[in-house]
Amino acid sequence: MENSFDTLIDSYLLNKIGISDGFLSEKLSNDLRSNLIQLYDNQKLVDAKTGQGNQLISNTLIRKDKIFWLDKSHKNVVENTFFELMDKFVLFLNSTCYTGISSYEFHYALYEKGSFYKKHLDQFQNNSSRQYTIIFYFNKDWKEGDGGELRVYQNQTFSDISPINCKTVFFKSNELEHEVLETHKDRMSISGWFKVG
Ligand code: OGA
Ligand code: NI
Repeated sequence: MENSFDTLIDSYLLNKIGISDGFLSEKLSNDLRSNLIQLYDNQKLVDAKTGQGNQLISNTLIRKDKIFWLDKSHKNVVENTFFELMDKFVLFLNSTCYTGISSYEFHYALYEKGSFYKKHLDQFQNNSSRQYTIIFYFNKDWKEGDGGELRVYQNQTFSDISPINCKTVFFKSNELEHEVLETHKDRMSISGWFKVG
């Protein structure tokens, strides 16, 4: 496990965007995907909002994903396994990179066909608690042409990352502008933030 933490962080330190293919086990990915599908089928997902606090608004011109926040109070075995792994990762981050992370938040996301998330930074303008972004993808059989790439802007150019199953990406929340290109089929993931304060 330490090894998969290293892979993600090493590529982050090298490229400012960490990419790893085995960060979550296939079993945990499958279980989280099943959770997400069940939540979707039971209509538990809600339209994602932009902004924060009492400024939250739904703006489907900016983002059209549907989300559900993970929470320890759900007492969901799969979510708790995921949280245990995240706790270990936070310890790893704080001991190897002196990041001072003290909390986190994660939501499932489902982008229905035709959905997108326009270019943005993940850290809010008036609240800098979000330090690092991590995204886990759950899409089996993702093919060229299915859309839904994560487009990351760096040095006047961009690179596109396809949201394929078991891929994890990691970057600094106030540093990398990014967007989700329109997806041509349903696209599943978890987005999360490691926070200070
Ligand atoms: C986000 C986000 C990217 C992705 O949730 O803030 O930019 O690839 N997600 O899902
Ligand atoms: Ni984002």
